[in-house]
Amino acid sequence: MINALLYAPEYRPNMSSMIRSAEFYGMKKIYIYDKNNLLSPPNNKTSRADMQHLARVWTAGAINHIEVVVVEDKIEFLKNYPGRKIATLVNETSQSLNDFQFQENDLILLGSEKEGLEPEAIELMDGSVYIPSLGETPCLNVAVTFGVVAHQALKSIG
Ligand SMILES: C[S@@+](CC[C@H](N)C(=O)[O-])C[C@H]1O[C@@H](n2cnc3c(N)ncnc32)[C@H](O)[C@@H]1O
Repeated sequence: MINALLYAPEYRPNMSSMIRSAEFYGMKKIYIYDKNNLLSPPNNKTSRADMQHLARVWTAGAINHIEVVVVEDKIEFLKNYPGRKIATLVNETSQSLNDFQFQENDLILLGSEKEGLEPEAIELMDGSVYIPSLGETPCLNVAVTFGVVAHQALKSIG
């Protein structure tokens, strides 16, 4: 089964939406490099309420059906991952998503909202895809990207 690594997401609603999409598309686990501590917020009333909101509303309960694996050392993780690592990049020199052939064990990487993927991670990729824009907006929201790429990946695997 294809899988995904959410690389340093910055906004909990985006992260939640991607957990929801992963579960929707049948992934049993999702990897998160939680650089911004979205999964372990400070222990106060607002944060606890936010986390409950994440589980119940933003993921529509999906979080109860998928294992969230926190990646501590992203470089070691990427070096040892058994499948191909495929970055989603806002970069037209990457391969167009429309022409990319995914494989069963591929890991799809989604970059952070502001910074995208760090160069040290990009160096370890086996391939990269971009979603061509038909308009003027330079890039998509990361969670929207994930939905589009996950759908296309499963379609291309068949
Ligand atoms: C808002 S974008 C990051 C923008 C950042 N300034 C950059 O250039 O990488 C957040 C993430 O969404 C994904 N993304 C957004 N639009 C995309 C596109 N058209 N093709 C592929 N990935 C895209 C990538 O994973 C990216 O790292």
